[in-house]
Amino acid sequence: MIELKHIEKSFGDRVILNDINAVMEAGKCNLIIGASGSGKTVLTKCMVDLFQPDKGEIIYDGKNITTMETDERKLLRQQIGMLFQGSALFDSMTVEQNVMFPLDMFSKMTLAQRRKRVDEVLEKVNLTGANKKFPSEISGGMKKRVGIARAIVLNPKYLFCDEPNSGLDPQTSLLIDKLIQEITLEYKITTIVVTHDMNSVMEIGDHIVYMHQGQKQWEGSNKEIIFSKNELLNKFIFASEFLQDAKQMRMMEAEGKQF
Ligand SMILES: Nc1ncnc2c1ncn2[C@@H]1O[C@H](COP(=O)(O)OP(=O)(O)OP(=O)(O)O)[C@@H](O)[C@H]1O
Ligand SMILES: [Mg+2]
Repeated sequence: MIELKHIEKSFGDRVILNDINAVMEAGKCNLIIGASGSGKTVLTKCMVDLFQPDKGEIIYDGKNITTMETDERKLLRQQIGMLFQGSALFDSMTVEQNVMFPLDMFSKMTLAQRRKRVDEVLEKVNLTGANKKFPSEISGGMKKRVGIARAIVLNPKYLFCDEPNSGLDPQTSLLIDKLIQEITLEYKITTIVVTHDMNSVMEIGDHIVYMHQGQKQWEGSNKEIIFSKNELLNKFIFASEFLQDAKQMRMMEAEGKQF
């Protein structure tokens, strides 16, 4: 479990995160949703220790990362896997070299052991045999899967995926979501997915944190979102008339009314 307590972050005199309190539940897919510019990536970067919040506590299973000693912090960071917005693969390296990179940096494995581990995670993301390909030779969905393979190669306890579906078609997006969900459940990871994607919200949103202009507006599950009365959330999620009607029908159905 990751707890966020009173997180604040400004760049210059612009407040980006304003007193964020939220929980990322253990062993579940936690989603951070919100409009572009609402602070999702900055919040995620604070959580993974790439940005230092100005105030507040980020507590990983009882331990506050913001006040940790360097050595302990380094160890914790090795338990964090991250899929960056846009995959961020090294273009001049093969799939295998990309996925092996964290092992080269942080493990003492022999080359044979590292190769074996790379094959294991490539199999996990359905990319067996793609080892020697370069990022420019594979599709967007495959790149995301390579990014996921690299994020899980060190067996992380916490997995962060920033916009894993951006630029993908709905079907490929669903496959990526399912893969993230499967990995979360199989390895009991605490997963945080930043997304705009309504399908993801409904499909894998065990726990959802909705951000609006640097503040947390709402927190709950995908079951609860349908019945939420938060106006900002409803405007964001059920943006089209079609979705507003669908929500209305669901609510009437739940109340036993005809439509
Ligand atoms: N390093 C930085 N320096 C200054 N301002 C920044 C920096 N990083 C982000 N910001 C600002 O913080 C705000 C929130 O950005 P952030 O990237 O967290 O948004 P987001 O919710 O992830 O949006 P998107 O959905 O487009 O990815 C934006 O106004 C952005 O310009
Ligand atoms: Mg972002």
